[in-house]
Amino acid sequence: RPRVTFGHLTDMKAHSEPIVMVTAYDYPSAQIADAAGVDIVLVGDSAAMTVLGYDSTVPVTVDEMLMLTAAVRRGLRHPLLVADLPFGSYEVSDEQAVATALRFIKDAGADAVKIERGGTSVERARAIVAAGIPVMGHVGLTPQTAASIGGYRAQGRTAEEAHVVFHSARALQNAGCFALVFEAIPSEAAAAMMPLLEVPVIGIGAGPATDGQVLVFHDLLGIYDGHVPRFVKRYAELRAPMIAAVAAYAEDVRTHRYPQPEHEYAMPRAETQLLMG
Ligand code: KIV
Ligand code: NA
Repeated sequence: RPRVTFGHLTDMKAHSEPIVMVTAYDYPSAQIADAAGVDIVLVGDSAAMTVLGYDSTVPVTVDEMLMLTAAVRRGLRHPLLVADLPFGSYEVSDEQAVATALRFIKDAGADAVKIERGGTSVERARAIVAAGIPVMGHVGLTPQTAASIGGYRAQGRTAEEAHVVFHSARALQNAGCFALVFEAIPSEAAAAMMPLLEVPVIGIGAGPATDGQVLVFHDLLGIYDGHVPRFVKRYAELRAPMIAAVAAYAEDVRTHRYPQPEHEYAMPRAETQLLMG
């Protein structure tokens, strides 16, 4: 299996071959995504909630995201690796955006970075691309700024709102983004925008018209116990068997059924005699 390249994504869109993206946040989840044959792995700032326990994506830091991205890099061979720039790490200036993006590429091994919103993010995207770093845009529901867009709700439910989303999407494309994420956009609005965009669009809660889909690792595997949005399909319920396994271990320890002889190391008899005097 060859490594996925940016050219592959363009070809996939041209051939209407769906692009598969999933998040991963550490070495084992990266290895699982790779073995499953996905095209793009996103170290999403959803890590803030799924693996770091924050109650939104706002507080996660660059250093936290760099550590997770580096771990994913070590577990990944074939998929393209995209890392989210955390809230506050790119909004201040083009210089700040480029400097942060460079750390994800050079220090953590990401192939590309993702930033949220239109508006000032369009200029930030242009600056990062000009520095030679591929950028993925993200429009619709943008969790980093949920507070200023009316909370965690679908975006583009009216024609006027849909136009705003489209203008951001097109501006990000024209700024040089190689792909876009559409999050929580009514299917009708997403479908109307698709023929007007040239770059691949990966949807999450944006219906079937996008060029690909993305889901959060812990959501699709049924590990995360927080709020589950409408667009999530759970392909497994791993939280319950994980709890059951740890509980079985606890029970074994408490009832002296673990460890058994096969879990023990042995000392040669002569050494044991010396030890015992
Ligand atoms: O952080 C994340 O997981 C994301 C995806 C939902 C697109 O941004
Ligand atoms: Na994100």
